[in-house]
Amino acid sequence: MEHIIRQYKLEQGALEVQYIEECFTEFKGKKTAEEIIGRLKDREHLILLSMAPSGDDDAVLIPVAYKIGHELRAQETNLKLSDLVGQVRDVVEFENRKIFYSWIGGTRTEWRGQGRYRALTEQQEEWAHARGYHELVVKTKNRFYGMRATLDHLNFDVIKFQRHLRNNRESKVYLSKKIAAEVLRQHQTSRSVVEAA
Ligand SMILES: CC(C)(COP(=O)(O)OP(=O)(O)OC[C@H]1O[C@@H](n2cnc3c(N)ncnc32)[C@H](O)[C@@H]1OP(=O)(O)O)[C@@H](O)C(=O)NCCC(=O)NCCS
Repeated sequence: MEHIIRQYKLEQGALEVQYIEECFTEFKGKKTAEEIIGRLKDREHLILLSMAPSGDDDAVLIPVAYKIGHELRAQETNLKLSDLVGQVRDVVEFENRKIFYSWIGGTRTEWRGQGRYRALTEQQEEWAHARGYHELVVKTKNRFYGMRATLDHLNFDVIKFQRHLRNNRESKVYLSKKIAAEVLRQHQTSRSVVEAA
């Protein structure tokens, strides 16, 4: 299967992700376009959506999976990001290295198990490598078993576990992947990437 991926610019991409997040029951704090734009506007970022035939009309493609990532600097002023950097500073080397944070993503239920998240992840890695990034960092929670299993299949290494004091299922798990040319050679998906508005 060749995956059709659209790479969006900021405003339209933020709207598309706001729409698609409405379809996820797993997410409590769904991201708004405003929040996404606020986070990404002053930093290098990548917004990718995986497209599938709509069902009603196979010529019409709809977004069914998405992935957003952005650069993560050693010095962050945004509170959430400075907290993130504080958490991983002892396990991620920032000096003279570019770090990419794989922020949010998912695949709509009916389209899971088709390799779409792998395709988006591999595309993100290819893009990040081309722009000189050295490492991808991602954060999840103990209770997100599907995501943990997926990140395992995608060869992310656990770099830190931050235990939640009252409920261990809420504990945070930090993972990372160093992106050298060798990693790109191991990619498995076939992808066509189109730049959208
Ligand atoms: C996790 C999620 C993104 C996977 O999307 P997907 O498009 O079905 O994933 P893919 O088909 O690309 O699978 C990628 C790999 O992960 C594995 N995988 C995916 N879901 C899995 C699951 N629930 N259990 C075990 N392995 C799983 C696949 O077997 C595949 O491995 P392979 O390529 O080596 O064969 C999707 O289930 C999802 O959106 N879940 C909800 C999001 C979520 O929980 N987010 C938590 C916040 S971090």
